Amino acid sequence: MMKKILELKDIKKKFQNKDVHKGISFSLFKGETVGLLGYSGAGKSVLLRSIIGLEEIDSGQILYNDQKIDHLDENELNKIRQRISYSFQSGALFDSMNVFENIAFPLFEHTILSEHEIDLKVSQVLNLIGLKDAKELMPSDLSGGMQKRVGLARAMILDPEIILYDEPTAGLDPVNIEIILNIMQNFKKRGFSGIFVTHDIPAAKKVCDRLLILKDGKIHFDGSPNDFDKSQDEYIRTFSMSC
Ligand SMILES: Nc1ncnc2c1ncn2[C@@H]1O[C@H](COP(=O)(O)OP(=O)(O)OP(=O)(O)O)[C@@H](O)[C@H]1O
Ligand SMILES: [Mg+2]
Repeated sequence: MMKKILELKDIKKKFQNKDVHKGISFSLFKGETVGLLGYSGAGKSVLLRSIIGLEEIDSGQILYNDQKIDHLDENELNKIRQRISYSFQSGALFDSMNVFENIAFPLFEHTILSEHEIDLKVSQVLNLIGLKDAKELMPSDLSGGMQKRVGLARAMILDPEIILYDEPTAGLDPVNIEIILNIMQNFKKRGFSGIFVTHDIPAAKKVCDRLLILKDGKIHFDGSPNDFDKSQDEYIRTFSMSC
């Protein structure tokens, strides 16, 4: 039996008078990568942000390893954010820091590693993302694809158990998309879990064990890529052809 690492139970979230989530429930199992798809404005980013407490849900429950993590205080949220990391839709790098400093930042903040150990760890991750010569470069010197890779490296540096990928491949050329998908697959091979928000259905099918389709504030579809292809549901058919 696979272990549930994350569970969302009947999540509801409203902005002013707009209901974004009207009762979202699903589980993420250990070692699994799940694709979260839906049209622009469906509430994908808000859902990822809610998981790590960057948005406050109105009702429902979020469990991480069976422990309730919604409505925690900042101190407790900080601990959760070391285990569940969010790779921002924009790279969200610190403009005034170089690549090394950007990636090392969480290590300086959250660990007691020595400078030498931090240097080693950052070098390993830079090798993994194919940017070992970019240490000294500033974010403004990097292409969009490189910035996304550095953002992903920063999300991985604390060895989280779960990564929430918010459109990590959007706007990239095919070569950079392949690099990012490989990084995600390697993370998965090491036994970790992920939620992959994307508009790229072929990419989602490639990396994900399961696809979730968000529609009208609810999970309209939850199944394997194969189930998705075979689905006779009219909405799913239209959706799969529109992306
Ligand atoms: N802080 C906020 N205040 C008010 N409305 C918000 C806020 N954040 C998000 N929304 C609204 O919530 C809805 C869902 O937004 P969200 O960013 O989650 O969409 P998305 O599915 O990630 O879209 P995209 O694919 O374009 O990234 C949108 O209508 C958005 O305008
Ligand atoms: Mg979004």
